[in-house]
Amino acid sequence: MHPIYGIFGTVPVPMGVSSPVPPMRTRFQPFRAAIRGVALCEPLTSALRLIADSGPRNARRMQAHMELKTKRKTLRLISNGMYVITSRSEGHFGAATVTWISQASFKPPLIMAAIRTNSNVFKCMSDSGLAAIHILECNQQDFAQKFFFPTQANDGCINGEPFVDGVTGVPVLRNTPAHIECRVVRIVTDVGDHAIVILEVIEAECRDLVRPLTIAESPWEYGG
Ligand SMILES: Cc1cc2nc3c(=O)[nH]c(=O)nc-3n(C[C@H](O)[C@H](O)[C@H](O)COP(=O)(O)O)c2cc1C
Repeated sequence: MHPIYGIFGTVPVPMGVSSPVPPMRTRFQPFRAAIRGVALCEPLTSALRLIADSGPRNARRMQAHMELKTKRKTLRLISNGMYVITSRSEGHFGAATVTWISQASFKPPLIMAAIRTNSNVFKCMSDSGLAAIHILECNQQDFAQKFFFPTQANDGCINGEPFVDGVTGVPVLRNTPAHIECRVVRIVTDVGDHAIVILEVIEAECRDLVRPLTIAESPWEYGG
């Protein structure tokens, strides 16, 4: 059974069978049809008007229509991994756990990352033009947590984790199953509250074929 929605309420009817309500032939019929037509069409026409009249101002008007809780809930359903990105610019180090990362091209192999512009890692990667992205294993939540905090490098460690120099000279965290060394090819800073950094893969090393850590399987959220 599926409901048929009419102007006089909801009538359940079996699938594939037309409404059991007999057609009404009264002198009010045209008025009722007109009222129903207007009621159905009004939200549709206003939505179409908004879409047709597109542009930054109307995009903002359309955003205002969006329910904030629904937007947050829905955007948080986007699947993302959890990574630690590192970089160094002369004596200065940057390292951060990030989740807004995705492959963006096969040829050349590109990765895009959304990075906070006030972070140490952003400063280092924009100065040096190099960064390393580390994949974490699904049981490395403690490791990820170390890089939620401001970068501190000393005694061959970043935030307490030992590193070695990679092929490109970027700091490579030893206790990770895989890493990708990249060069920065473009940085977009004028569209949102994170910089969109496009990186080209220069070197990749897989030490252990693990099940990677994802934001969905973690206790944390970053999105919305
Ligand atoms: C779950 C989670 C995900 C995060 N994802 C990102 C991200 O995708 N991009 C980003 O720039 N910062 C992200 N952060 C914030 C960085 O981890 C944090 O700002 C880090 O401290 C930066 O290091 P810094 O203080 O040395 O600059 C995330 C934080 C959390 C808790």
